[in-house]
Amino acid sequence: MRSFAIGPSFAPTLVLWVLLGAAAGCSSPTAPRGGTEPPPGGGGSTPTPDPLRTLADRHSIRFGAAVGRLFPDDARFTAVLGREFSMLTPENDLKFDATEPVRGQLRFTRADAMVDFASSKGMTARGHTLVWQNQLPAWLTSGSWTRDEARGIMENHIAAVVGRYKGRLAAWDVVNEAVDDGGSLRAGFWLNTIGPDYVELAFRAARAADPGAALYYNDYSLEYGGAKTDAVYQLLSDLKGRGVPIDGVGFQAHFEAGKLPSLDRMKSVFARFAALGLKIQITELDVRVPLPATTASLQTQAADYRTVVTACRETPACNAIVTWGVTDADSWVPATFPGSGAALLFDAAYTPKPAYAAVADALK
Ligand code: XIL
Repeated sequence: MRSFAIGPSFAPTLVLWVLLGAAAGCSSPTAPRGGTEPPPGGGGSTPTPDPLRTLADRHSIRFGAAVGRLFPDDARFTAVLGREFSMLTPENDLKFDATEPVRGQLRFTRADAMVDFASSKGMTARGHTLVWQNQLPAWLTSGSWTRDEARGIMENHIAAVVGRYKGRLAAWDVVNEAVDDGGSLRAGFWLNTIGPDYVELAFRAARAADPGAALYYNDYSLEYGGAKTDAVYQLLSDLKGRGVPIDGVGFQAHFEAGKLPSLDRMKSVFARFAALGLKIQITELDVRVPLPATTASLQTQAADYRTVVTACRETPACNAIVTWGVTDADSWVPATFPGSGAALLFDAAYTPKPAYAAVADALK
C-alpha cells in the first residue's frame, strides 16, 4: 500500500487560471475537487481540469516540485506551486553547504520559508540531502580529519538538521549518490574520511533524530537496470538485512527525451526494490530536450512523462513523484547540460506544456 494520503484540495479551472496569468496569488477562485465551474462570462459546462495534486491523490501519490529560488518572491510562482503540487523539496537549501556554512552555525531561514509554505498549503516536504559528496562547505572539505572526527561532524550535522525539522518533513534523502556508474562506492569526502560504513551510520543517526521521517537512499540512473542498479540493490538489501533503518529508494529520474527505459523495464526495477520492503519515490524528475524545443520534441517529452507517471501509478510501493523545478525558467538543466533545457511541465511563462496534459491524463 502507498503510505501517503492527503487532505482535500481545490480545483480552480486551469483555463481561468491561465487567462488570469495566475496573478491572483493564493486566493484564486476554487471549486470542489472533481466539480465543474462555468467558464468566465459563460454558462457552459466545461469540466473543471483538476490540478495534478488532486489527480495524484486519487492514487495515493504525492505530486511534488523542487523549489530553488529565493522564496516566496513571486505570487505567480507560489500560486502555481500551491495549486498543482502536494509535496515540496528545497532544491539546495537543506544541503550541507547551505545549512552549516560555518562549523556549528546552522542556517535555516530559506528552508524554513519553504517548509512553512508547504504546510500552509497542505503539502508535505522532503528533506534533500544530508550526506552527499557535493555542495559541502569549504571548512569541511579543506580540513584534515581523522575518521572519528569526520564521523562526529556527520552525525552532529544529521542530528541538528533532522532534529530541527522533527515531525515536519515526511521524508529525508539521507544518503545521495553513494554508488558510481561502475557499481562501486563512489570516492568522495565521506567514503574517504569515514569509510564504507558511513552509509549505515548516516541512516542510524537520521532515525534517531526523527523516528517519524521516512528515510531514503537517493540516486540517478537506477531506472535503467544495469551494473549501478545491481550494486545499489545489493547495498540496500544488505542494509535492510542487517536492520539498518532505511525505508525507501529515491529514483532521481533526470532523463533525456526519447532515451528512457521502457515502461516494463522501469516497473520491473521498481518491483525489485519494492520486494525488499522499500517504498519508491521519483525524486527529481525532468526530461530535457535539445534547445530550441520543437513541437516534435515536446511531444516526445510528453510521452516520456506519461511513461514515468504510469510506472509509478502501476507500482503500489510508489508514493511520490517530484519534478526538479516548476517552470523551464527555474530548471538546473540549461546550466548543467548546455544546449538542453525545457525539461519541466510549465514553460517560462507558466503555460502548461504538452507534458502537463500527459501527466494529468496518466493520472486519470
Ligand atoms: C542541483 C541543483 O538543481 C542545482 O541548483 C545545484 O547548483 C546543483 O545541484 N542530483 C541531486 C540534486 O541530487 O541535488 C542536484 O541538484 C541535481 C542532481
